[in-house]
Amino acid sequence: MCCYFEESVSDDVVSAFPFFNFKYDEHHANIPYDQRLRVQIRVYCKAKRVMKAFIVDRYGKNETLRLGDVPEPSLRDDEVLVRVHAAAVNLIDAKIRNGEFKLFLPYRPPFVLGHDVAGVVVRVGARVRKFEVGDEVYSRVDDFHIGTFAEFIAINEDSVAIKPHNLTMQEAASIPLVGLTAWQALVEKAQLKRGQKVFIQAGSGGVGTFAIQLAKHLGATVSTTTSTGNVALVKSLGADVVVDYKTQDFEDVLRDYDVVLNSQDGKTLEKSLNVLMRGGKLISISGPPDHEFAEAIKASWVLKQATRVLSFGTRRKAKRLGVDYSFLFMKASGSQLQQITPLIESGVIRPVVDKVFPFASTNEALAYVESGRAKGKVVITVR
Ligand SMILES: NC(=O)c1ccc[n+]([C@@H]2O[C@H](COP(=O)([O-])OP(=O)(O)OC[C@H]3O[C@@H](n4cnc5c(N)ncnc54)[C@H](OP(=O)(O)O)[C@@H]3O)[C@@H](O)[C@H]2O)c1
Repeated sequence: MCCYFEESVSDDVVSAFPFFNFKYDEHHANIPYDQRLRVQIRVYCKAKRVMKAFIVDRYGKNETLRLGDVPEPSLRDDEVLVRVHAAAVNLIDAKIRNGEFKLFLPYRPPFVLGHDVAGVVVRVGARVRKFEVGDEVYSRVDDFHIGTFAEFIAINEDSVAIKPHNLTMQEAASIPLVGLTAWQALVEKAQLKRGQKVFIQAGSGGVGTFAIQLAKHLGATVSTTTSTGNVALVKSLGADVVVDYKTQDFEDVLRDYDVVLNSQDGKTLEKSLNVLMRGGKLISISGPPDHEFAEAIKASWVLKQATRVLSFGTRRKAKRLGVDYSFLFMKASGSQLQQITPLIESGVIRPVVDKVFPFASTNEALAYVESGRAKGKVVITVR
């Protein structure tokens, strides 16, 4: 019996216990819970190896991620286990850590952060058909299955695609979240067509650098905003009209646009309505969330009403101007990534990576992204 009281499991592993899916063990029901937990973790960890990961212990703007040990993810039948080589850092990682997304994405700490990954498939679930061990892949992992700031991640095969062969792991990791955001905004929602005019805000950011290139590929005339130091970058990506927001107001320069991709604050959203033509589309990725989004995430009645209230002013003004307002919260999609891959392999779209940090500096990478000054993407090398 004494082995059941062994305390050799590290605190890191114990604190990560919500990751475990224990079976209730009635033989040892008389043993205090925390001791039983330690034993079960120990048994579990013997069977399953532990890995290094960056963990959110508590929500908060000033909270740093803790590098600790957690068990390697267990694999469902429809998942692939990916050895992470590189992971991109996105603003959503900072916002989740800060607690800003608690209402919509209620992750319970402790949990591993990270949405974007490039790596190698090391195991496949019994029902996986599209991938095999050794495949080099990339993915924006599904909500509620995040955790790419780690050595391994289990991902539903439908959210994975084979990595573009001409990209390094770091470059490939920089693509999924922003690439899918741009795709879902411009291709799916806006159905952007040759000859149309699109205004993409913050052309030098992660979403902007990808969206400019995608919109040019679709045959649109592209306008963007950036500060003086990034004008050359956005022009090199294909932007036709560049508004330096430090010296000009885009509202004074742009007129009769078919589509606006809004990624900035509420004031910018308001002004964006005025640059659209009647029948134009305002697609916002920075809020306010609308009713359609609340339906899509199966929000509670209260949350649905809250989104109605939050977006009321924008929807009313949009209606008055005869334009369409919608909020986009991007979702994982392996099939859309698969459509993006040839655009990258043919050189139509190139990754823009600003900085690459070592795994140990994940907190510094997150802080850099939060500064709002990144030119393109920020990536961490895990392996
Ligand atoms: N809803 C969704 O599904 C979704 C998906 C992706 C992203 N987002 C959101 O979209 C926003 C943009 O994301 P991101 O990843 O592209 O951000 P990012 O890469 O961090 O953006 C940084 C860039 O923004 C530029 N910038 C800052 N203030 C600006 C302004 N007032 N006007 C024009 N450019 C400005 C900066 O250029 P300068 O240094 O020149 O100012 C910098 O290059 C974030 O709020 C993010 O959370 C939402």
